[in-house]
Amino acid sequence: MKKIEDLSDLNKKKILLRLDLNVPLKDCKITDTTRIDKILPTLKYLIEKNSQIIIISHIGRPNGRIDSKLSMLPVCEYLSAKLKIEVKLIKKKIFDINPSLFTENNSNKIFFLENIRFYEQEERNDEEFARKLSSFGEIFVNDAFSCSHRKHTSVDKITKFLPSYCGIQMNAEVNALKKVTTDIKKPIACIIGGSKISTKISVIKNLIPRFENIIIVGAMANNIIKYKGFNIGNSIIENNCNNIVEEIFSLAKQNACEIIFPKDVAVGKKLNDKAKIKDLSNILDDDIILDIGPETINLINSILDNSKTVLWNGPAGYFENSNFAIGSEEIAKKIVSLGNKIYSVAGGGDTIAVINKINALKKLDFVSTAGGAFLEYLEGKEIPGIRALKS
Ligand code: 3PG
Repeated sequence: MKKIEDLSDLNKKKILLRLDLNVPLKDCKITDTTRIDKILPTLKYLIEKNSQIIIISHIGRPNGRIDSKLSMLPVCEYLSAKLKIEVKLIKKKIFDINPSLFTENNSNKIFFLENIRFYEQEERNDEEFARKLSSFGEIFVNDAFSCSHRKHTSVDKITKFLPSYCGIQMNAEVNALKKVTTDIKKPIACIIGGSKISTKISVIKNLIPRFENIIIVGAMANNIIKYKGFNIGNSIIENNCNNIVEEIFSLAKQNACEIIFPKDVAVGKKLNDKAKIKDLSNILDDDIILDIGPETINLINSILDNSKTVLWNGPAGYFENSNFAIGSEEIAKKIVSLGNKIYSVAGGGDTIAVINKINALKKLDFVSTAGGAFLEYLEGKEIPGIRALKS
């Protein structure tokens, strides 16, 4: 990939910068800023070079519709306070923006386009949308490794219209993951959790031949628990997944990979409830599984005790409510307590938020901002955003 640092003259150049500032929000307030903090070096570098920065990013999955709760405004405000520079949110519809907006003498401000996923063209990798976006800048920079597994307009198609480079964070993440995957020490504990079941369930199949065990927690595990014949009450689940789950178990058997799933869980009747620990056979129709239980935590701890590497992606429960953050926090604490005995790699916005909550971010060997992209990289899949920067 060509790097932003390879460019000799950035003075007054209009840089269209794709960032992944998909940060967790509660009541429109940012609850974890790690993803923003990680890309500050790229912004500072461009500011120092006197470039005109136009940021493209997304929050959540608004499915091509405007959703004011997913506005980029809180991110603009945070960036503005951090960098002590005006960060102007452009709310005007992209097709109505005159590119001259970005050619006035604006070196004392950063422009930030409103959530790019408010446009249905984004996820369609739409050519016309890419052409319009590209008219705003002279150079495209992708510093969003964590959404580079998405073949979307602002990651992929845009590179057809502008000279394209990778940012500082993207380059660091790809190099670190390359090193992690080539020098990996066995046995490896691979922990996969979180609620993006549709993204991750098929990934698990491809990871099976690479690992001795895969520990499935969080909402991801609900499909497995149900497949094993237990009631999961009102818990979230991905529909029509029985075939994939069946395939997961049969592949695991062929490859001598053990699939570990919760033995006990913490349930509530609603998200803001208190936790009640239950065996899988005692889950009621109105229970929601929101965390793993103590027996499962002990099981994971003993696997970690016997591992030389841990790869962790996705929290074990609904950590936004501290009553259901125990499983995730115990995993983080255990990894930290093992110190040099284990090489620890964690990835994903929510996983970072959990680790940050116990101030352990710097105690892991490598923390990637990427969740889905991190898993797809581990699978050995080609990442569209990386391919686009190479071609
Ligand atoms: C992430 O949070 O992993 C990225 O921002 C991608 O989000 P997505 O899974 O909604 O595409």
